[in-house]
Amino acid sequence: MSDIKVTIIDREGKTHKLIGPTDMNMNIMELCKAYDLPVIGECGGMALCATCQCYLESETNLPEQSDDELDMLDQAFYVEENSRLGCQIHLNDSINGIVLRLAPE
Ligand code: FES
Repeated sequence: MSDIKVTIIDREGKTHKLIGPTDMNMNIMELCKAYDLPVIGECGGMALCATCQCYLESETNLPEQSDDELDMLDQAFYVEENSRLGCQIHLNDSINGIVLRLAPE
């Protein structure tokens, strides 16, 4: 079992250091909810609601966005160049140290 470090900056600018397990098939949206951060995740991780939108603030190399994620971000508010859907970011060693900022609700 291995854990990774995830930093989340909330909507008040407060930094939260989270530890994420890589062996539970979790994503960033689920991890935020597990830590009681204000992420709704309304669609349950289907890339259909954008309530898990966040901004990538680190140099982490994430996999290409899926068409579903791009379509959803096309319709969402507050979208920036570094917008991502938290539910589409899976916890694995390659994202250790990632820094994400929660998008406005
Ligand atoms: S939880 Fe709905 S798009 Fe991520």
